[in-house]
Amino acid sequence: MIMNYVKQTVTDVSVKGKRVLLRCDFNVPLDKSTNRITDDNRIIASLPTIRYLLEQGARVIICSHLGRPKGKIVPEMSLLPCAQRLSALLDKYIPLVNDITGEYALKMSESLKNGGVMMLENLRFYPEEEQNDPEFAKKLAALADIYVSDAFGAAHRAHASTAGVAQYLPAYAGLLIDKELSAIGDAINNPKRPFVAILGGSKISDKLGVIRNLLNKADKIIIGGGMAYTFIKARGGSIGNSICDEEKLQYCKEVLDLSLEKGVEILLPEDSRIAAEINAPEFTVAPSGKIPDGLAGFDIGPTAEGMICRIVADAKTIIWNGPMGAFEFAPFSGGTQAVTHCVADSGAITIVGGGDSAAAVRKFGLEHKMTHVSTGGGATLEFMEGRVLPGIACLLDK
Ligand code: 3PG
Repeated sequence: MIMNYVKQTVTDVSVKGKRVLLRCDFNVPLDKSTNRITDDNRIIASLPTIRYLLEQGARVIICSHLGRPKGKIVPEMSLLPCAQRLSALLDKYIPLVNDITGEYALKMSESLKNGGVMMLENLRFYPEEEQNDPEFAKKLAALADIYVSDAFGAAHRAHASTAGVAQYLPAYAGLLIDKELSAIGDAINNPKRPFVAILGGSKISDKLGVIRNLLNKADKIIIGGGMAYTFIKARGGSIGNSICDEEKLQYCKEVLDLSLEKGVEILLPEDSRIAAEINAPEFTVAPSGKIPDGLAGFDIGPTAEGMICRIVADAKTIIWNGPMGAFEFAPFSGGTQAVTHCVADSGAITIVGGGDSAAAVRKFGLEHKMTHVSTGGGATLEFMEGRVLPGIACLLDK
């Protein structure tokens, strides 16, 4: 099971004339040389809440973090590109306030007109944000009458702006958080069956809790990506130089045993695209459990693709988190591309976890064919793992 949150949303409260502190997750990727936003999906995903608040006559103070400046002012991590992008999307000038806990920010918030909007500079320029400092949270709260969180991507963080501030203001979920909770929550807690989970990515430590939780829910779990090789080794396969988390071998064995006990099939890729290094121009295909020394698997192979696509074609609910290989490198993009296409064409309820799998779905232009593409990375994983999300738990219950 995962947490079944039933939270009051922004539509459960009258916001007209009220100052609303709106926590968004505008932690978007920026081009290192131009500082331009390379993927504005998180900003786009917050638009329904922002537009709703403005249409209702609220006075909106948007805040977010960007990157990990570790409590210092790092000019390259300014929210200015986000303020500019949002201004363009709303066709409305959005001032960005630097000294977010100072007099000026307070005056600005007080002088906002109904339907007016301002943005605070990167919250993480202040060490108190990540420390969840109550004084800092109180100062943020002083800017507003109510708090709305739409920062699903940061909901696993117990920071001043994601959790602390809810001690001082009535706190509601934004429309994005509401959508994320119901899309992911319904798929996992009340799946139409067969329910198939596809998990990939290179870091196995991120996903073990999710696999364990899904063993209680899914009918089949497909594992691909770099993390598959630790499982393959745990099953006795030879994986050559493929990525392997030695410390997790025992855990993988336990999970494989548990899957037999529970009657939930865990499927590993039968074959892999292998090469000497990740930026090799070409690959060969080998059985995933017979990879020679000196070579490593960087993507699932064509037989594995066929197997996954056959399973996915019969599924009624699919959760997918993590790419099948190093899809940023052309020779190793085939597996992720094939899985993106067959998930998109499955006709099932399709939930794509955020981060790299969301990036893959966008790269292959198939986002519009998925039921839901999450804006969360770590937050989506922790939610799927059944953990409490402090940024959701702090909001008012219905
Ligand atoms: C994310 O990108 O996953 C969120 O914005 C959280 O960022 P963080 O991992 O730096 O807390």
